Amino acid sequence: MNIKEIVDAVQAFVINSNHDLEQFRIQFLGSKGQIKELYGALKNVPNEDKRLVGQQINELRQIAEDKYALHKTTLSHATAETVELDLSRTGADAQIGSHHPLSLVRKEIIEIFNRIGYVVSEGPEIEDDWHNFSALNFPPEHPARDMQDTFFVEKGEQEMALRTHTSSVQVRVMENSKPPIRTISPGRVYRNEAISARAHCFFHQIEGLYIDKNVSFADLKQTLLFFAKELFGEKATIRLRPSYFPFTEPSAEVDVSCTLCHGKGCNVCKYSGWLEILGCGMVDPNVLDACGIDSTIYSGFAFGMGVERIAQLKYRVTDLRLYSENDIRFLKQFTPGI
Ligand code: DAH
Repeated sequence: MNIKEIVDAVQAFVINSNHDLEQFRIQFLGSKGQIKELYGALKNVPNEDKRLVGQQINELRQIAEDKYALHKTTLSHATAETVELDLSRTGADAQIGSHHPLSLVRKEIIEIFNRIGYVVSEGPEIEDDWHNFSALNFPPEHPARDMQDTFFVEKGEQEMALRTHTSSVQVRVMENSKPPIRTISPGRVYRNEAISARAHCFFHQIEGLYIDKNVSFADLKQTLLFFAKELFGEKATIRLRPSYFPFTEPSAEVDVSCTLCHGKGCNVCKYSGWLEILGCGMVDPNVLDACGIDSTIYSGFAFGMGVERIAQLKYRVTDLRLYSENDIRFLKQFTPGI
C-alpha cells in the first residue's frame, strides 16, 4: 500500500465527534489498522529500502498519533461546553418579582373605594404653599408650616414645599371639577423627621373626598365603616374620637377594633382593643369657598390615612424602615405575581 496515500487519508480524515475519533483510531492506529499493516508488510521490502520505508512509516504514525491526540483534547473540551449549551434543555424558571407590600395595600384600598364610586386622582409631590397649606385653612403661623416639619425647595424664584400630606390633591380636584366629587388620592408625602422604626422622612397616604348636596357626618361614618369591614373583615367595627384638623370641622380620628384580639386587648393595641387608622371630618366651609365650591349649596367629607400604618396592621411589619430598604428577603415574602 502506498504510504503517501495513507498520509493523505490521515490528513483528510474529518473528526467532528468522539465517534469519528474512534473510527480514525481503528482505521489507522488500531491493532488491525493500516499502519500496523504497513509495519507487517515491511518484511517484504527489499533490505536496502527497509531503513527508508521504515522511517516513512514512523513519520506517518507520528502524524496520525498527533492528530489523534489533538482531537481527543479539543473534543473533551467541546463536550463540556456542549453540555452547558444544551439548547434542548427546558429553560430555567424566570424569576418573577413580587409586589411591594405598600403597593398591595394601596391597590386593595383603591379597589374598595372604586366599588362605591370613588375615582383615583393624583397631584404633584412638589407643591406650592397654597395647595399644601393656605387653601386648606392653615393659619399663617400654623406649626405644620414650620421648617421642622416641611422640606422646602426652590423652584426658580418661588419657594415650594415637598407636600406634607395628600390633602393637597383635594384642593386641586375641587379647583378643577364640579360636584358631585368622589375621589381617592394615593401618593407619597414628605416630612422633615429623623428616620427611626416609627418615623420616616417620606411615607404614603391615601386621601378621600366626597362633595355633594346634603352630605352629612352620618354618610362619612357609614362610608368608613364599610371601608373597615371590607379591609379587615366583617367583624371589624369603628369608633370616632373628636379631633382637630384645620381643613375639617368637625374633625375626628377613627379607630378600628383590634384586628388581632378583636377588642379583648393585646400588645398590638396596647390593651385598648382599638387601633388608630385615619383622620377625617366634614370639609370646612372655608376650604370649599377657597377652592371655588359654594359652601352654601354643597357640603362634603374628607379623610386621610397612612398606607404604611394599614400595611403594618395587615402584615405586622412594625419597622417603617423596612418598606424602603429594598431588602429582597423582606420583599419576597409578599404575594408573588399579578
Ligand atoms: N392630612 C392629614 C394628615 O396628614 C390627614 C387627614 C386628616 C386628611 C383629616 C383628611 C382629613 O382629609 O379630613 O395627618
